[in-house]
Parts: sequence; structure tokens; C-alpha cells
Amino acid sequence: MDPGIRTFGGILLLALLALFGRQVATENDKDFKLCGSWIHGSHSRDLIVDLKTGCENIIISANDSSLSIRGKITAQCNRSEVRALDPSPGPTHFCVFWEPLLDMLIMEMNNTNTTLCESREVQTMCCTDLSSGAQNKSQHHGIVNASIHGDIITGDAIAVYEFKGGVIDCKKVFCDKAVQESRGANMIEDAVMRSKAVGSVDLPCAQSVVVKMNEDFAGYNVTLPAPHSVPANTVLLYLPACLKPARSNTAKVVCTYFKSSTLFQGSADVLDEVVGISVENEIITHLPEPVRIKFHHSDILANQTAKCVSWDTRKDKEIKWRMEGCKTAHISSKETECCCNHLTYFAILVQVNPTRKVHHLQALTFITAVGCAVSIVSCAVLFISLCRKRRAKDQSSLVHRGLVVALFLLCLLFVLTGTIANLGQDEVCQFVGALLHYALLSTLCWMAVEVLHTFWMIYMVFSPSPKTCIWYLLGFGLPALPVVILASMGNFYGERMVMPSDDVSKPYRMCWMTESHATLLAHFILNVGLLAAVVSSGCIMLFLVARKIHNRDEWRRNRVAFLSIWGLSCLFGTTWMLIFFEQLSETVVFFFCIINSLQGFFLMLRFYVLERMRKKPGFGTDGSSTGSTRQHMLQAQEKS
Ligand SMILES: *[C@@H]1O[C@H](CO)[C@@H](O)[C@H](O)[C@H]1NC(C)=O
Ligand SMILES: *[C@@H]1O[C@H](CO)[C@@H](O)[C@H](O)[C@H]1NC(C)=O
Ligand SMILES: *[C@@H]1O[C@H](CO)[C@@H](O)[C@H](O)[C@H]1NC(C)=O
Ligand SMILES: *[C@@H]1O[C@H](CO)[C@@H](O)[C@H](O)[C@H]1NC(C)=O
Ligand SMILES: *[C@@H]1O[C@H](CO)[C@@H](O)[C@H](O)[C@H]1NC(C)=O
Ligand SMILES: *[C@@H]1O[C@H](CO)[C@@H](O)[C@H](O)[C@H]1NC(C)=O
Ligand SMILES: *[C@@H]1O[C@H](CO)[C@@H](O)[C@H](O)[C@H]1NC(C)=O
Ligand SMILES: *[C@@H]1O[C@H](CO)[C@@H](O)[C@H](O)[C@H]1NC(C)=O
Repeated sequence: MDPGIRTFGGILLLALLALFGRQVATENDKDFKLCGSWIHGSHSRDLIVDLKTGCENIIISANDSSLSIRGKITAQCNRSEVRALDPSPGPTHFCVFWEPLLDMLIMEMNNTNTTLCESREVQTMCCTDLSSGAQNKSQHHGIVNASIHGDIITGDAIAVYEFKGGVIDCKKVFCDKAVQESRGANMIEDAVMRSKAVGSVDLPCAQSVVVKMNEDFAGYNVTLPAPHSVPANTVLLYLPACLKPARSNTAKVVCTYFKSSTLFQGSADVLDEVVGISVENEIITHLPEPVRIKFHHSDILANQTAKCVSWDTRKDKEIKWRMEGCKTAHISSKETECCCNHLTYFAILVQVNPTRKVHHLQALTFITAVGCAVSIVSCAVLFISLCRKRRAKDQSSLVHRGLVVALFLLCLLFVLTGTIANLGQDEVCQFVGALLHYALLSTLCWMAVEVLHTFWMIYMVFSPSPKTCIWYLLGFGLPALPVVILASMGNFYGERMVMPSDDVSKPYRMCWMTESHATLLAHFILNVGLLAAVVSSGCIMLFLVARKIHNRDEWRRNRVAFLSIWGLSCLFGTTWMLIFFEQLSETVVFFFCIINSLQGFFLMLRFYVLERMRKKPGFGTDGSSTGSTRQHMLQAQEKS
């Protein structure tokens, strides 16, 4: 071959090698993994280990009878031994792992890991940054298909691989890497769990405490020191006895205070204090006794609410904080305690209360309670008299009764909801909130049924009226559908606070729909939509009825009475407005509050006005034979 070409080939090879060497060094800035196949003789073989503390190099060499790992690389481990291996005919696949942070050297051979070195500490300065040094070729025996982190270096048989080490600040490098990873927090917890350390482990990005749970583990208090910048923000944890898995004698639990908020990016409303708890090889859920986490944090303003949230571990990539599984106890504006029944990462979510302040909240609460009480009694009285009526089986009586029952339920729940919210039982409050929503929807549905039923009686006199069960399905069945759907989706019902203007620290708590964008949407579609439908159809009905009967005798005679009935009915429908428009002038709010809570009473009033009108001669009393509309209705009902 032409000597020039040969020289050129050599330069090219050198250039490639230089490139390769640099690549290896940058790729493996911390951990090191070398794998290869050891071609050996068929007679006895052994593994030679000769490791010393320091930071020079690691030499992995092989000949026909032995595979040896030598060098000065570890922080704490001196190990020198010759281990006999079982004879094997073919090449033996092996890997060498070096994790400098944990000072851990592992040899994998025949699919089993042997730990050659490990220490009880997480290292600060460590020896890695391994760059390939000398490689000595061999004829028959040695290491073939050697790879670093899966990248094949060469297919040739090499007798000796040498890697030179350099000292790095591996805690810092580790943390820098963790904050770039999508599961960086997991990486940190994992490393601490895998280290043999017990007690406090300090990293630039996290502060961990490792607790060993022995057989007699009976709960434990942990204090996690705060990040250096905010010395007062310590976190107190209480680990209950039930945390120890029953099937193992001992287990390790790692509690970590993450200092770097970048680990949990994309959650602007979550405070920087994030704590993770995990138990070795376990996924812990449904603890009978909760883990208690007491956060000390920056001041929560009076117009903000702090809620305990936990990381949704079901979502791998997405950052998602959930409120389920944790109960929030407000201790002070700088302290919040979370009681959680599962283990993951926990934090405090701070939300600005969108609720506008309500003036004279106490007076309004009182008026509403009294009004509701009157309504409850009125509903009960009305129900009994509807049942006692001669025509108790009459369809309109049944429809009235449906509305009365729905309104009774609504008033009762509305009165009770404040008390129930103060019990602090989340599940109960969610259930009552859903029930209250159901009662509201049911009441609105029954109003719609009333309107529809009246329409039927006046306009469809000669077609048979729908079966009673259809009305009941509309009034009681239909509203259950959206409530069940919303309840199963979670997060829609729960505690809601109404802020009084005078003292924001004493909000009025109630169980209703929670505050979120999704809930607001549901509220507008369901509640406001239904209300608008009921009110507008009521107005149309009023117009139609007036047109139909305006030239009849009874209309002339009972004009005032008719107007008053419809007036009451309309009033009755529109008063629910209070829930929908919160910013009204104070007088209007008072007015609405009074009228709204007295709905049951108005219902009773309407009923008795109607009854009186029926009894008046000439107004189509049950027995009379005038050709009144009512008479038509009755005939129609008898036919059906
Ligand atoms: C193989 O290498 C080991 C040490 O690396 C050495 O002690 C041994 O003598 C070598 N065996 C042969 C046959 O060269
Ligand atoms: C390991 O051995 C070296 C000498 O070979 C000694 O200087 C060093 O202190 C030893 N390290 C430990 C942790 O025993
Ligand atoms: C590999 O491991 C299996 C059991 O896991 C054992 O039976 C076998 O002898 C081992 N082979 C060598 C070459 O060590
Ligand atoms: C051996 O340990 C390494 C490093 O921790 C790991 O990646 C590998 O899966 C382990 N191998 C076996 C067989 O457990
Ligand atoms: C490689 O071989 C040369 C001689 O051929 C020897 O001087 C050198 O020490 C060997 N390198 C290693 C790392 O064993
Ligand atoms: C080395 O790799 C080549 C190609 O990937 C393969 O054909 C060969 O069997 C490997 N040698 C050993 C000893 O595993
Ligand atoms: C943990 O601390 C609480 C008070 O903060 C105390 O009541 C409890 O007894 C402590 N538990 C243990 C196991 O030390
Ligand atoms: C909350 O209150 C603080 C002062 O108490 C005020 O600066 C801030 O604007 C308020 N935020 C809202 C959304 O009302």
C-alpha cells in the first residue's frame, strides 16, 4: 500500500479516536456502565478485584483465565479479592456499573448483580468523568464487543481497558441533571433510597431524612430542615405506625424536602415547599391512619385559600396536582397541616378566592335560615293538605306534591349545609353538595313540569295528558342524571366559602359546588340554563293563558286573582336569581334573600288562593257545569 495513504488512514483513525474519546467523556458525566463479552479458556476462571480509595483510574482487563477490575476510584471502599467462577464454555457477558454518587460498584455477570463496593453515605466529591485511556489489543482472549452505555466501542478482542478518572462535585452534577429530567424528583428519591444512608441526606436540590422502620415501629416524628434560603420553613412530618408494610420486618422510608421548585415546574399556584414520602419497594395507598405533614410557609393572605394537594402519580409526564386523598387543616396564615392517606409528593396549593365579599353576611344568613324554616313548615302543611284533598289522586295535585317535596328537600338541605360544612368531613360535604344541587335542579324541573302541565290542560284539552309517572320521571329522575355524572367526575362538589366583608377570616362555609372553571361552566349550563328555560317558558305560558281566556267570563270576574297567581308563580321562579348574580345592591340582596327563602310559603299561599277561587261560584268548581276551562281540564283527565 502506498505509504501516503497509510499515513492518511492513521491520521483519520486518530481523529476518529479523539472524537470518540471526547464523546464518551461528555456522555458519561457521572454514571459509568461498561459491558462486554469475555472470551476465555474453557478451564477454571476467576474474578480478580483490587480496588482502592482515590481517584486515578479503573482498569478492566481479561485474559484466558481471569477477568480483573483494578484501580483507584472509590471514596471509601478498599477491596481486594480473587473469586473463583464456575467454568463455562462460551464467552461470558458481563457489565460493570459505577455510580459515584452512591460510591457503588456493581458487577453483573450471568444475570446476577454482585455489589463490589458500597458506602453508607452519599458522596459530595467523587471520582468519575471516566475517559477511555489505553486499550491493549489481544489475539485470542479478552473483551469483545465492549460498549459504554450501550454504544459499542469496538468489536475486536481487547485485553485491557483503562479509564482515567477526574474529581467532580457529583451532588451538584446530579441535581443539575435531575432538574432537567421530567421525573427528576423520582430520580432524587430513588438515589437516596438506594444509598445505604440512614438519617439526614443533604443534596443541593433536596433535603432527605431516611428512617428505618423496624418490627416495633410505632410512629415517628420527622423534622425536615428547610432550604438554606428560608430557615423558618421547616416541615414536620408524622409517620404513623401503619406505614410499615406488614409482610416485611424492616422497611425504609425516605422523606424528602425538595428545595428546587424547578423540579415541579408548571404549577405556579403551588408553594415552593414540596415534600415527598416514599417507602422502599411499596406503593402506599389507603392508609388507615394518615400521614401528617405540617408546612411552615410564607404568609397566606386573607383573600387566599391554602389547600393540600398531592402529585398525581398515575400521570407520568403531565404535572398534575390532585386534592383527593388529603385533608387540609389551617393552623395559621403561616402554617398548614395536611393529613394524607397515600404517599407521593405533597404541596400547598394557594388559590385566590374568587368569591366576592358579601356585606351583612350574618344578617343574611339569619334571615335565610328563618325563611327556610318557614318554607319547610309551609311545605309540610301544604303536602298534608294536598294529600287530604278530595281529589288527591288528581294529576295536578300529584304534580303540586312533587314540587312541594323537591322544595322541601331544597330548603332543608340549604339550612343544614352550613352546619354540615363545619363538621369538616370532606366526603359528607361532597355528598351533601351533590344532594343540594340535585334538590335545586329537581325544584327547577318541577317548576318546568308545572308550566308544562298547565299548558297541557289548557291547550291540549282533548288529547290525553301524559301518565303521572312521566311527570315524576321529569321532576325527580332527570335532575339525577347531571348530578351523578358530575359527582363521578370528581372535584365538582365540596366545601365552598362565602366571604363576609367585615371579617374575611370567618367565612361562611357551605357544601355546594366547588370553585373552579369547570364547575362554573357546569353551573351556567345546568343551573342558569334551566332557570332561564323555566322563567321564559313561564312567561310564555302566562301570555298564552291570558290570550286564551281573556274574553271568558271568569277572567273578567277573577282578573285580580289570576294575575296574583301568576305573579306569585313568576316571583317564585325568578327568586333563585340570588345564586346567580352575586353582585347586587344591598337592598336587593336582602329582598331576594327574604323572598327566596320564603318560597315554600309562597307556594302554600298560591295553593290557598287557587282553592278559594275554585270554591267561588262560577269558577268551574268541581261540581258545576259551566263551560269553563277548568271543566275541560277535568273532563280531559277523566277521559285519560
Ligand atoms: C491473566 O491476568 C492476571 C491478572 O490480570 C494475571 O495474574 C495472570 O497471570 C494472567 N494469566 C495469564 C495466563 O496470562
Ligand atoms: C484504603 O487503603 C489505602 C491504602 O491502600 C489507605 O490509604 C486508605 O485510608 C484506605 N481507606 C479506607 C477507607 O480504609
Ligand atoms: C448462571 O446462573 C445459573 C443460575 O442462575 C447457574 O445455574 C449457572 O451455573 C450459572 N452459570 C455460570 C457460568 O456461572
Ligand atoms: C444490576 O444493577 C444495574 C445497576 O443498578 C441495573 O441496571 C441492572 O438492571 C441490574 N441487573 C440485574 C440482573 O439485576
Ligand atoms: C499495554 O501493553 C503495553 C505493552 O505492550 C504495556 O506496556 C502497557 O502497560 C499495557 N497497558 C495496560 C493498561 O496494561
Ligand atoms: C459481537 O457482535 C457481533 C455483531 O454484533 C456478533 O455477531 C458476535 O456474536 C458478538 N460476539 C460475542 C462474543 O458476543
Ligand atoms: C410526635 O409529635 C406529636 C406532637 O407534635 C406528639 O404528640 C407525638 O406523641 C409524637 N409522636 C412520636 C412517636 O414521637
Ligand atoms: C388580596 O389582598 C391583598 C392585600 O391583602 C391585595 O393586595 C390583593 O390585591 C388582593 N387580591 C385580590 C385578588 O383581591
